[in-house]
Amino acid sequence: MMAGDLAQRIRDRQPGRALAREFYTDPFIFQRDMQDMLLRHWFCAGHASSIPNAGDYWLVDLGAESVIIVRTQSGEVRALLNVCRHRGSRICSGRSGKVQSGRLTCPYHAWSYDLDGRLMVARQMPDSFQRAEFTLKSLPVRIMEGLVFITFAEEPLELAGAADALARSAGVHGWASAKVAHREMYSIKANWKLAVENYMECYHCTPAHPEFAKRHVYARPAQHNQELELAGRSRAAALGIVVPDIDHYGCAAGAGRESVAVMRSALHDGMVSATDDGRSVSRLMGSFSASDGNSTYFDIGPISDFLAYPDHGVIYRFIPRTVDHTEMEVMWLVHQDAVEGVDYDVGRLTWLWRTTSAEDKKIVEMNQAGVNSRFYCPGPYSLQETYAGRFVDWYLQELSRGAEGRAAGDWAS
Ligand code: FES
Ligand SMILES: [Fe+2]
Repeated sequence: MMAGDLAQRIRDRQPGRALAREFYTDPFIFQRDMQDMLLRHWFCAGHASSIPNAGDYWLVDLGAESVIIVRTQSGEVRALLNVCRHRGSRICSGRSGKVQSGRLTCPYHAWSYDLDGRLMVARQMPDSFQRAEFTLKSLPVRIMEGLVFITFAEEPLELAGAADALARSAGVHGWASAKVAHREMYSIKANWKLAVENYMECYHCTPAHPEFAKRHVYARPAQHNQELELAGRSRAAALGIVVPDIDHYGCAAGAGRESVAVMRSALHDGMVSATDDGRSVSRLMGSFSASDGNSTYFDIGPISDFLAYPDHGVIYRFIPRTVDHTEMEVMWLVHQDAVEGVDYDVGRLTWLWRTTSAEDKKIVEMNQAGVNSRFYCPGPYSLQETYAGRFVDWYLQELSRGAEGRAAGDWAS
């Protein structure tokens, strides 16, 4: 597809409908997605508790990029590009680890960097060689309520609103004092937008997620839930829990601020957590002196989503890799002092969202397979898919804005 074709495709999209096939299948459009949306926004890399000590690191991917999230000697968290300044080799491999001897050493020719990315050793270089010119490139890092956010943007979006919203949601849930109890990586053979659209709507929850639907009121149409949601709010008020609904979703389009939204929703009567038996699964977190039987959904930017219960939390990271491959990392959070086998059991803790994520992988891959057909044509969103439609509207705005900012002849750059 050429640039002019894409502009026309964006104009052709019928409001209130899913996207045309090309948006989910064309590598050219995927490149636009990366440059005009994904690389411009903040995204969650994980939780800072995963790297408690100097030299601890984990790797984060986005598209073809790889980033080393590392704890430095001074205790800061840095995001270093996993690209050697010599001839470009990846320096670290594997998902996580500990840097040996405080040095990140490239496996190719052994250039060696300290934890701040400064080049310390490079053998047999000429006298004119200046080590200081070959520091590893790094990305901005922001830690909010224990969550590590990074961005590839040269001019990062403003995070004040997102920080405030996180303080009023993740903060109330005690996420700054949480730890990652378990993580799972799902490889999804589908375009990232199908995975995100699926996450943003609950029209599919009743048919595809019976386990979720039995626990979360949100699976049903809003007009059927008013009483149950009001009861949930009363329970929260009785415990002094205040988590406001905040809606600045997609606000970043042109405004220079990062998108953020927070929404609370009740669990079904009598359930204190979203578990197999509705009972608690770990010790209470944050401001909760008892469970109020609610859940808090929040998201920052287009690919980072979160769900908090009174006794545990879930982080969703969507990781677009190629036009038809997306990874989804799910992390379960518990209180930092909770002890496995005493306070929580990993099987019970992860049951609902392991089940739900496996179901989502399947339906999203089936969605992609159908969209690949030349007989696919985009149908209308239902009343229960408002947020999926909103995501797609925002996405198209970002692509259009990116196109405006680029001279017509530079489209392929
Ligand atoms: S590419 Fe890293 S040392 Fe040569
Ligand atoms: Fe789902």
